[in-house]
Amino acid sequence: MNFEKSTILRKRAHAVIPGGCHTYAKGDDQYPQLAPGFIVRGKGSHVWDVDGNEYIEYGMGLRSVTLGHAYDSVNEAAYRQMLLGHNFVRPSPVEVECAEKFLSMITGAEMVKFGKNGSDVTNAAVKLARAYTGRDLIAICGDHAFFSVDDWFIGTTAMSAGIPKAIKDLTVKFRYNDTESVQALFDQYPNQIACVILEPEKDVPPANNFLHRLQSLCSQNGVVFILDEMITGFRWHNGGGQGYYDIVPDMSAFGKAMGNGYSIAALAGKREIMKLGGLDHDQERVFLLSLTHGAENPNLAAALEVMKIFKREPVVHMLWKIGERLASGIQKSIDEHKLNGYFKMVGKPCCLVYGTLDEKKLPSQAFRALFLQETIKRGVLAPSLIVSYSHHESDVDRTIEAIDETLSIYKRALEEGVQKYLVGRPVKPVFRKFN
Ligand SMILES: Cc1ncc(COP(=O)(O)O)c(C=O)c1O
Repeated sequence: MNFEKSTILRKRAHAVIPGGCHTYAKGDDQYPQLAPGFIVRGKGSHVWDVDGNEYIEYGMGLRSVTLGHAYDSVNEAAYRQMLLGHNFVRPSPVEVECAEKFLSMITGAEMVKFGKNGSDVTNAAVKLARAYTGRDLIAICGDHAFFSVDDWFIGTTAMSAGIPKAIKDLTVKFRYNDTESVQALFDQYPNQIACVILEPEKDVPPANNFLHRLQSLCSQNGVVFILDEMITGFRWHNGGGQGYYDIVPDMSAFGKAMGNGYSIAALAGKREIMKLGGLDHDQERVFLLSLTHGAENPNLAAALEVMKIFKREPVVHMLWKIGERLASGIQKSIDEHKLNGYFKMVGKPCCLVYGTLDEKKLPSQAFRALFLQETIKRGVLAPSLIVSYSHHESDVDRTIEAIDETLSIYKRALEEGVQKYLVGRPVKPVFRKFN
């Protein structure tokens, strides 16, 4: 594969943009040396890089694309709205229509407020919880990777430079599937915790009715129960992870897939809490979400179309089905190469990721780089194994073949040393203290 243009553009990018791009998860340190540096276009499940190489793709805009890249009817809906204008001094009818459609899908929520990024709405959720309870502490699930770009979360990571200790001290952690760790926090900080925030599920399913038990613990202690549906929403179930597990959180935060790549996010929740951000109450006013581009009309039109498609067509069913085909093909290959314990898939079929382990069965960034390098060589760009509604069986079958060949190299690298097969350096985790 030729990456000549990528190499030239990469130099220009790093000269003018810290890190060479605007999202850490897309950075050069996340990919091996032999990888496309820039993607020019995508259609459905395929993307093309700046050198003209084509890939079947399994990252789907960091999971923001569930229908497929450049999905015609979504683009058309956005374009029709674009012709009417982007932004006015008063709200547009599409804001109301989009809110009503959203609430018809996320049926436990009574009100919704839109933002642009997931972090807008997780930030708004914790702020509202603090205002509602009059408490300062936020309890996050320590087993979940990401909640926000803001200090209340980034302060808990290895990349917390620039965040004051006073802010860091306001976020505490509990463990998933461990209500005792939640109770311990409630005991240690009585009447100080405003909310708990977690994803409905990450790598392991809730055990012993964990989500419902956590919810009752929260309500007994006057703590707001928040679900982060950035990944589960508009992928697992039409009603999100909360629909899948039949639970109604006090608030929930959606983003990513609800716009099929257009920037839109939603804070949803109970009226009693959400109304504090509005005009119909006599309590202290909360500056909830108010952004110049907060409700950008074409993005709302895109989201509205996405939701209509989810309601009308078997999107979720197909995501699971095609994901299952992919997962079972890869598992067969893992079994045949006797790589169980060295290469593993994690998560639900509609939202699969993978783990790469070395000869000692320890997580390995070098083996991740090798896996990426070899799949890229075979026309598959798979930082994760995230499928879309546009992934066809033929895409998946070609991918399974590419992964099968990759795993035979992986096996040899386990026996002979990964450096023999990896060109250049390993990849690195985003959250690290030093480069
Ligand atoms: C679970 C979860 N919550 C929140 C966010 C923040 O979303 P955004 O990057 O749109 O601000 C992300 C982003 O990856 C996420 O995965």
